[in-house]
Amino acid sequence: MNPITPGSMGKLWLFALVLFSTLSLLSATSKQTYIVHMNHNSKPLSHATHHDWYQSLISTSDSILYTYTTAFHGFAAYLDPQEAESLRNKDAVLNVFEDRVYSAQTTRTPQFLGLNSSFGLSDGRRFEEIEHASQDVIIGVIDSGVWAESKSFDDKGMPGIPKRWKGKCMSGKDFNKRLCNKKLIGARYFLRAHEKQVSGSNHVGVISPRDYDGHGTHCASIAAGSPVENVSLFGYAKGTARGVAFRARLASYKVCLGSDNCRGADVLAGMESAISDGVDVLSISLASKPEQHYLDPIAYGALFAMSKRVFVSVAAGNAGPRKSSIVNVAPWVMTVGAGSVDRDFRAYALLGNKQLFKGMSIYNGPRMRSKLVGLVYHRGKNSSSNYCLDGTLEPALVHGKVVICDIGGIGSVEKGLVVRRAGGVGMILVNFVSVKELSAESHLLPTVAVGKKVGDLIKQYEKTDPNPRATLGFDGTVVNVQPSPMVADFSSRGPNPVTPQILKPDIIAPGVNILAAWSEAIGPSSLKLDNRIVKFNVISGTSMACPHVSGIAALMKAAHPNWSPSAIKSAIMTTAYNIDNTNSPIRDVVTGSSSNPWAYGSGYVNPQKALSPGLVYDTSDEEYLKFWCLFLENPNPSCSRKFSDPGELNYPSFSVLFGSNSIVQYSRELTNVGQINSTYKVKVTAPSTVAVTVKPTKLVFKSVGEKQRYTVTFMDKKDKKSNLKAAFGWIVWSNAQYKVSSPVAVTWP
Ligand SMILES: *[C@@H]1O[C@H](CO)[C@@H](O)[C@H](O)[C@H]1NC(C)=O
Ligand SMILES: *[C@@H]1O[C@H](CO)[C@@H](O)[C@H](O)[C@H]1NC(C)=O
Ligand SMILES: *[C@@H]1O[C@H](CO)[C@@H](O)[C@H](O)[C@H]1NC(C)=O
Ligand SMILES: *[C@@H]1O[C@H](CO)[C@@H](O)[C@H](O)[C@H]1NC(C)=O
Repeated sequence: MNPITPGSMGKLWLFALVLFSTLSLLSATSKQTYIVHMNHNSKPLSHATHHDWYQSLISTSDSILYTYTTAFHGFAAYLDPQEAESLRNKDAVLNVFEDRVYSAQTTRTPQFLGLNSSFGLSDGRRFEEIEHASQDVIIGVIDSGVWAESKSFDDKGMPGIPKRWKGKCMSGKDFNKRLCNKKLIGARYFLRAHEKQVSGSNHVGVISPRDYDGHGTHCASIAAGSPVENVSLFGYAKGTARGVAFRARLASYKVCLGSDNCRGADVLAGMESAISDGVDVLSISLASKPEQHYLDPIAYGALFAMSKRVFVSVAAGNAGPRKSSIVNVAPWVMTVGAGSVDRDFRAYALLGNKQLFKGMSIYNGPRMRSKLVGLVYHRGKNSSSNYCLDGTLEPALVHGKVVICDIGGIGSVEKGLVVRRAGGVGMILVNFVSVKELSAESHLLPTVAVGKKVGDLIKQYEKTDPNPRATLGFDGTVVNVQPSPMVADFSSRGPNPVTPQILKPDIIAPGVNILAAWSEAIGPSSLKLDNRIVKFNVISGTSMACPHVSGIAALMKAAHPNWSPSAIKSAIMTTAYNIDNTNSPIRDVVTGSSSNPWAYGSGYVNPQKALSPGLVYDTSDEEYLKFWCLFLENPNPSCSRKFSDPGELNYPSFSVLFGSNSIVQYSRELTNVGQINSTYKVKVTAPSTVAVTVKPTKLVFKSVGEKQRYTVTFMDKKDKKSNLKAAFGWIVWSNAQYKVSSPVAVTWP
């Protein structure tokens, strides 16, 4: 699994696919970690424990890494492929699958989310009361560990640790268990699969709860960091940094050594431990490639979490804007994509023809003199010099100049170092995927990042002017940027490649240029050469969006302790918004025009509204099981009942597939969590190519907790000659006080 951060790796989207396929080729031939799914009910009496039994199934004595007993029944072991194959044929073995590699893909965000204490809930409670109650809520962060000394984990003023907490703080290299406190109440590590895989090769990091990467610290402080005044990154984004649920408790589960080096067997072990320890919310900013639910450790762990009433929020992945790039798509997790906030770190490029173009940058090093210098793009012998990869720039051509570089191949801060080594004095970085560049990085060379539109104009000038020249300047932090929010280019997109009947992502949340705590073991750009030490860093990714929703879920738990995770999920989804601060539909930064539910799901999170949703689509464990049983290779006896279509799940959004059938009908159940005697009327916004009928059109709830059903029929009206592939609409139940919105995505083959 990978942490999800474009700053360090997301910008590698052009190359990520190649990397993944190379990894799977290598892994097929040598000894590696397998996860073995067992029918634990068939344990012979001759073995005292499940662990003894599992040990007896494999030959070498030291190869069991974990025995899973709660979220999943089975074990992880380091085996050669023949041994894995022979296990597959044993009776009690349900499945054997190769472990996966995952990678890790806020001063302003609580304010941008409207969380500033000045509002009340529809039941009359003030938001301060909810914040106060959130000190009993525990968020578990499955990631690269924690920099416990950060002020974001200060426990000043916090009451004693909730009595039910069973977790612990583990000592390890460079980490004393006394570093935990009443804010950071647990810190463990699960790295056995990782250690097996990398022993002998380069070892990144140290076996302890300590975060040497920054990602885990950043995510934890976004979800629940304590308020820290007067922080910034080199003066950018200055203000008070605080987590979304800043009074909630944190527990860190380290399963990654380095941003793109987390093993599924370790992730599953971390999830099991967190659930047994008593977390209320799990925050998992990790992603791998799309995978069937039954081969996906996070899906297994999260299904168990759901049954223990633990809310699970996961990153949607940074493989956007590619279609169907979405990952972590099990319906029982909240799949979170990334949008921008209304803050830019503005920089500009002034050209020799007096044109001035705005861009983005975080840069506090020596400025360029205001004098214009030469400007150069893609010159010389090397065909990939436009990417400014190491060894592709000819010093004679770039010396003393500003160099235009396209994104891709290596990280953007690293490109600046390549330019500097070749003698360049500045860089204009072109994101040719998007109309505008949203993400800023902490550059070591004067750099201005621009989108395709501006990039093309600058390239045109460089090509046609006999003596192209430029200089770069930096304006610092700008707020109230319009339009905001926008869908980030890197945020992974639908449609759902595993279960197309379930719309994913579920939601988008702040994931661009997020300021939060950082590890002091690594510089802000994550490069070895970057020896700057910062206590707070600005990075972007669906990794940053995910813990925002984890924090919101913690506030929801505090406000509504009896709600199920699916009720909380529904409340967050049906109250999301899809209109930006210019009153237009939320735009996609890739195109600059209106986005759709394949990019933003139900919309951008609105925690104020989510706390008082009126109605929720609640989903029982039995219903999830009926869904799950559709996908198991060896369905177990509890799978006597299953859905005929995965879309039958009581989900807060709709994804309709037309193909052999021209009519699709689903039924949904709404639960009243608002006032007694509430009446709701439905409003349907349908594309012209689909007839949508809802029955009944009015729902009356006499009491709180009452459930009402409705049926929706989708009829294909598309002209047979049209090659339209998708269309979108909305089904909205509302009254004077509440609006309960569900997006509809319709797909034709
Ligand atoms: C809180 O946020 C609301 C809406 O975002 C805004 O109208 C209000 O002025 C803010 N209050 C404070 C004290 O910042
Ligand atoms: C904020 O921090 C800066 C340096 O980081 C310092 O110069 C300034 O005095 C601080 N301001 C306050 C109000 O603490
Ligand atoms: C361009 O540079 C890259 C990276 O140094 C190198 O691998 C490649 O062979 C070069 N190509 C040419 C045509 O020189
Ligand atoms: C709810 O409706 C019922 C029947 O229509 C009525 O008797 C009752 O007084 C109403 N309650 C409230 C609080 O409006």
